[in-house]
Amino acid sequence: MVDKDFIVKGHFCFSEGPRKLVVKENHYLVCEEGRIKGIFPQIPDQNKGMACLDYGDRLIIPGLTDLHLHGPQYVFRGIGMDQELLDWLNTWTFPEEAKYREIEYAKRAYRLFAQDLRQSATCRAVVFGTIHREATEYLMEELEAAGITAYVGKVNMDRNCPENYREETKASIEDTEMWIQNTAEKFTRVKPILTPRFIPACSDGLMEGLGRLQEKYHLPVQSHLSENKSEVQWVKELCPWAECYGAAYDRFGLFGSGGPAVMAHCVYSEENELALMKKNGTYIAHCPQSNTNLASGIAPVRRFLEMGIPTGLGTDVAGGHSSSVFRTMVEAVQVSKLRWRLAEDTLKPLTIEEAFYLGTAGGGSFFGKAGSFQEGSEAEFLVLDESRIPYMKELSVARRLERYLYLCGEKDLLHKFSGGRMIF
Ligand code: GUN
Ligand code: FE
Repeated sequence: MVDKDFIVKGHFCFSEGPRKLVVKENHYLVCEEGRIKGIFPQIPDQNKGMACLDYGDRLIIPGLTDLHLHGPQYVFRGIGMDQELLDWLNTWTFPEEAKYREIEYAKRAYRLFAQDLRQSATCRAVVFGTIHREATEYLMEELEAAGITAYVGKVNMDRNCPENYREETKASIEDTEMWIQNTAEKFTRVKPILTPRFIPACSDGLMEGLGRLQEKYHLPVQSHLSENKSEVQWVKELCPWAECYGAAYDRFGLFGSGGPAVMAHCVYSEENELALMKKNGTYIAHCPQSNTNLASGIAPVRRFLEMGIPTGLGTDVAGGHSSSVFRTMVEAVQVSKLRWRLAEDTLKPLTIEEAFYLGTAGGGSFFGKAGSFQEGSEAEFLVLDESRIPYMKELSVARRLERYLYLCGEKDLLHKFSGGRMIF
């Protein structure tokens, strides 16, 4: 265990923008009171007496952010990957999530989920729970104990879902308010986020009620958007008044205008929807593995970046089978190449530097100052171990990072500092 004042020495890699990978070799990261003071070529005079953890030739990067995943889906990841979204929800997801009504089941499953995140490179996460208040509160406890800084949502849904996994509109709103009051100040690192599942599962009355809660408690919002062709068509039928899918959230102040919002997927977002997101500062969680598994499509991330829409990466467990944001970075690059080659040759593929940005600073900024070693941000970083991937000639630090992202992962972490402490 390390004190809250310490220095870390090594080669630091972080992003100051999608195309700006910064490398500082043989530098010193100074942390005071668990917060970053800066990265210096020498130890500043006034910090000379502090303990220094010397990691020599190793790479050190910011903690990763998973902008979109489902806690209750962790235990069935890797199953049912032969279906598209709406069938997959009905066949696998809703029946599994309904089980979280039993708190003992929820506790066992959420312990496994939190243990996985603790061992992972993820330091920050935006997480869906289920419709159950008690289980969601337990999920928040587990994530706090695992040292993860997180927004966690009790899901709302009152239509187009099975009877044993559906809320009455009024009860859903009341239950959500009680849950907000129970949890808003209960944890240091874990906070509630409003979570209408997606428009097909939320009536206008429910959305209106959530809009009122948003105004009263100023909470952020998470949901799904324009993920799948049948889903987009369905929303057109359900909300003929909405000029785009996003407008069905925006009408109730749940699309970034009333407070920060993050929308997963945006595979089929058209120009007007993206323009609205840009205007509202709405975040996109790009989830390439889920979009591949559920055959949803390939999101035009290059367009998001060109338009300046804030974007990060999501594993979308269990649409995505892996909880690794390292894997997600590589897959973001891979699917962007397929889109470029097969569908839209004006949108250049992502580079690995851009994908690294998305998984660190891009998603991290949803939490404020995070993901980029900014002065005053929390001491959150990963010390990488490349011993499993020996190389034949000297490589630059940037090339070593690229190789690590492709060939290594969470099992190759030497240390993780998260939530103000050394996790391992
Ligand atoms: N849309 C509504 N619910 C879900 C979900 O659980 N996963 C994904 N990928 N999309 C959704
Ligand atoms: Fe999802």
